[in-house]
Amino acid sequence: MKIGDPTLALSEVDSTNLYAWRLLDEGKAKEGAVIKTALQSKGRGMGETTWESEAGLNLTFSVILKPDFLEPARQFLLTKAISLAICEAVKSITGLQRVYVKWPNDIYIENRKVAGILIETRIMGNRFEWAVAGIGLNVNQETFSRDIPNPVSLALATGHYHDLEKCLKKLCQSIENKYTLLQNNGASQLDEEYLNALYGFGQTIPFESKGKIFDAIIEGVTPYGKLVLTDSRRKQKEYDLKEVRFLY
Ligand code: BTN
Repeated sequence: MKIGDPTLALSEVDSTNLYAWRLLDEGKAKEGAVIKTALQSKGRGMGETTWESEAGLNLTFSVILKPDFLEPARQFLLTKAISLAICEAVKSITGLQRVYVKWPNDIYIENRKVAGILIETRIMGNRFEWAVAGIGLNVNQETFSRDIPNPVSLALATGHYHDLEKCLKKLCQSIENKYTLLQNNGASQLDEEYLNALYGFGQTIPFESKGKIFDAIIEGVTPYGKLVLTDSRRKQKEYDLKEVRFLY
């Protein structure tokens, strides 16, 4: 299986994730296929948000995967594999070292978000039937709408433009490597790499949960993908995405 074979290029689409699911429903897609577009009219982000991207300047694409070797309870391993792949590709393209995965799967250069990932899955019985990993990477965009909290692009971070095709190739290669690792019992390696790449790991950072602001240390992530924090009273708690917000 090769990630990017085939690659379907669309000039415009509602969302590459939605398009991937339509192909799968029609039985017209195989594992490894990539759907990319220059413009999404309904780009989707995590948790009902939208993904903004200026036409032709960035990478917006989805990868079709069939992780039927993985039990659904271990889905966060897929999140780890894809996030680490994007993180490593961004490091390699830019030569920058301070590239992190902000829990659960945002990719940051220093304190700014450069890429977002939306993984959607379909489960049959106790196995994954299909997964669609949608990736939005800011490449050459230089200005962003004010509603986006702290965006950055590869061009802003490095001071020069990047070739979209070369970037996509690197990302696909990187996804293939991490996905192959996941397939070949690489879970503990992915766990270790994820902690090494985790933004704020081991640091005390301000958070907000249920209207309360508090400082806490990031201890790690549970196998189900919950964030583990220890507050200043040494109380440890696990949070899911809707329960906690980074204030840093
Ligand atoms: C997030 O950070 O909220 C996730 C953003 C994911 C955006 C990508 S762009 C390609 C793919 N198609 C979509 O509609 N969303 C994902």
